[in-house]
Amino acid sequence: MIPVCEPVLDGREMEYVMDCLATNWISSAGRYIRLFEEKFSQYCGMPWGVACSNCTTGLHMSMLALGIGPGDEVIIPDFTLIVSANTVIQTGARPVLVDVDPRTWCIDANLIEAKITPRTKAIMVVHMYGHPCDMEAICAIAKKHRLAVIEDCAQAHGAEVNGKKAGSLGDVACFSFYGNKILTTGEGGMVLCRDEKLAAKMRTLRDQGFQEPRFVHEVMGFNYRLTNVQAAIGVAQVERIDEKITAKRRIGQTYNELLAGNSDFSLPYEEPWAKNVYWMYGILVEESFGLSKDDLMAKLKTKGVDTRSFFCPMNMQPVYAQSDPRFPDISGDYPVSKDLWNRGLYLPSGLGLTKPQMTEVVEKLVECHP
Ligand SMILES: Cc1ncc(COP(=O)(O)O)c(C=O)c1O
Repeated sequence: MIPVCEPVLDGREMEYVMDCLATNWISSAGRYIRLFEEKFSQYCGMPWGVACSNCTTGLHMSMLALGIGPGDEVIIPDFTLIVSANTVIQTGARPVLVDVDPRTWCIDANLIEAKITPRTKAIMVVHMYGHPCDMEAICAIAKKHRLAVIEDCAQAHGAEVNGKKAGSLGDVACFSFYGNKILTTGEGGMVLCRDEKLAAKMRTLRDQGFQEPRFVHEVMGFNYRLTNVQAAIGVAQVERIDEKITAKRRIGQTYNELLAGNSDFSLPYEEPWAKNVYWMYGILVEESFGLSKDDLMAKLKTKGVDTRSFFCPMNMQPVYAQSDPRFPDISGDYPVSKDLWNRGLYLPSGLGLTKPQMTEVVEKLVECHP
């Protein structure tokens, strides 16, 4: 089976992890945590990095640090992982859905203003499958309406907008280092921000609200800490980030070449102002192919090729169909995200994928034509 993704740990990961074990620094204190925060925030061009247990906890605590809570609204894309909506709900605020762009699969900047109300506090963008959002347009809207911009960069380490890195374009940015991400620590996350006070608030929130004097708490915090062992893996990964981004782009370009001229599939797009890092190589199945996305995925599996479906949009989530004032309003039409769900899947895209494997994937894909 050619897997959809596998981590590549071919740098100094083992050496740094062994250092943690040898020195007994295995919990959430230790030199690798600060080092990882410094190296990764520097790479992205943001002054502050706050490592945390995963991107989900990062999104939650960054919104809390921004003061988002009950009575507020946060704009999110309808086409995303459910984490985007759930973390807004966890703050007490309400997610407001906006459809996505049919080519980049990212939130459609042209549809945002119609969803802004006096309650809107922030726009949370998601750089989808490695393609960055139209940040210049989105930040202009945010500035006009005095809204915070939260970048969800879980899928877009190293992506760029006009030469500027994803993660340096809004007020805060949240990254995931889960096993299938471009940079991985197994499980892990980091929030980047440009405001030192915001970073300090998040450091308190991630650590049970500990402040001085110890055991006297003024805020309700969480255990959202990353361990030194995870951070040690992260430091080794950041040391090789340029190679990883180059490898991801090579995979994207190789698939583009192998599938060029095949009108049965729509391929990923790259805006002239964007650097797509092809976290996962997504395709849309056209009607001419004669098989549904689900049937194609099942058939590919029998041929030894693993794939994943695109996300089910928020407006179609059964959990949000329940009448609950915390949940997003799912009435209204989101034709693009619905279409992506119906027709989208991604092909094996792991960093270790070879050209012969990609050739095999494409051959088997074409063979599935009924
Ligand atoms: C867009 C997006 N946001 C957030 C997350 C959550 O990341 P984590 O698993 O690190 O909490 C993911 C995970 O894949 C994601 O794709």
